[in-house]
Amino acid sequence: MNQLHIERCLPDGFLAAALRADAQAGLTAVPKTLPPKWFYDERGSELFEKITLLPEYYPTRAERSILAAAAPGIAAATGASALVELGSGSSEKTRLLLDALRDAGSLRSYVPVDVSESALIGAAHRVLASYPGLTVNAVVSDFEARLGLPAPDGPRLVAFLGSTIGNLLPPERAAFLARLRAGLREDDALLLGTDLVKDPAVLLDAYDDAAGVTAAFNKNVLAVLNAELGADFDPDAFDHMAVWDPQAEWIEMRLRSAEDQVVHLPGIGLTVQFGAGEQLRTEVSAKFRRDGVAAELAAAGFAMRSWWTDEQGRFALSLSVPA
Ligand code: SAH
Ligand code: AVI
Repeated sequence: MNQLHIERCLPDGFLAAALRADAQAGLTAVPKTLPPKWFYDERGSELFEKITLLPEYYPTRAERSILAAAAPGIAAATGASALVELGSGSSEKTRLLLDALRDAGSLRSYVPVDVSESALIGAAHRVLASYPGLTVNAVVSDFEARLGLPAPDGPRLVAFLGSTIGNLLPPERAAFLARLRAGLREDDALLLGTDLVKDPAVLLDAYDDAAGVTAAFNKNVLAVLNAELGADFDPDAFDHMAVWDPQAEWIEMRLRSAEDQVVHLPGIGLTVQFGAGEQLRTEVSAKFRRDGVAAELAAAGFAMRSWWTDEQGRFALSLSVPA
């Protein structure tokens, strides 16, 4: 029989307190920054799904094409009985993995972990309806604070897809991978999606689409601050920007203040001034090379066993095991 469990593994008020702390620290920093996890309220998650359908946003299609080819081999190599997915969002691409693990006969449970409760619960119900006999343990969590790894018997495959790892800064990535490694057993494996360095013009289009969906996604973080902290950001008073940093090899999304303005955030007792043209960094999206991915994994105690790219070499999936 199918079973759905929903687990909220963060203490009450944890996310609200984290948002307050991040807004206080980020909006008083020079230059101003906000962490990207706050994009993802219900509307933010919907906008991200729209991004994945844009002609300019190739990562989702590229990763799906790799999964379509590699999933049976991943299922055979891991024999996983539990598929744990960090930052699972809509769980759409995940179906290729679930299909392969089911067909291999090893799949027992699916554990999507996401900070966006609306996206998580919707996806959990849809997956549950499609896989008879599957147990779905949906975990509402911030994977940087608590991984929410279940400990059933049998091998676990932890999937971290979409290149969401690239939204963490390098020291955050190192800490995250080390904590993940510490929570894994010998027979577990990590499947990691990483977007690759490529022509900056292709990257800039992917993060500044003609239809303006990415701009709306970027500005959604202001709507989240308005809703959660009673702030009075006017999204129309900010312009969306995507910038390629060739040294760091990452895209930055920023919001540029169109004018001199003052914003109030009563929820944290903060008043913030923006000068005309001042930029608030809302996301980094790192782009990777094979050697760099292998080195970051090795530093955290993983050994990379397989590396696949799409035909055009835009995106990579790697399968690693505890070293
Ligand atoms: N894996 C999906 C979704 C990627 S969008 C795909 O490849 O298409 C990034 C997802 O990660 C969103 O659903 C967002 O809510 C989630 N997320 C971002 N930061 C997170 C965090 N710190 N903890 C848990 N989930 C997070
Ligand atoms: C979820 N994450 C990997 C996306 C990315 O490409 O960095 C978020 C995103 N930002 C702008 N467009 C999509």
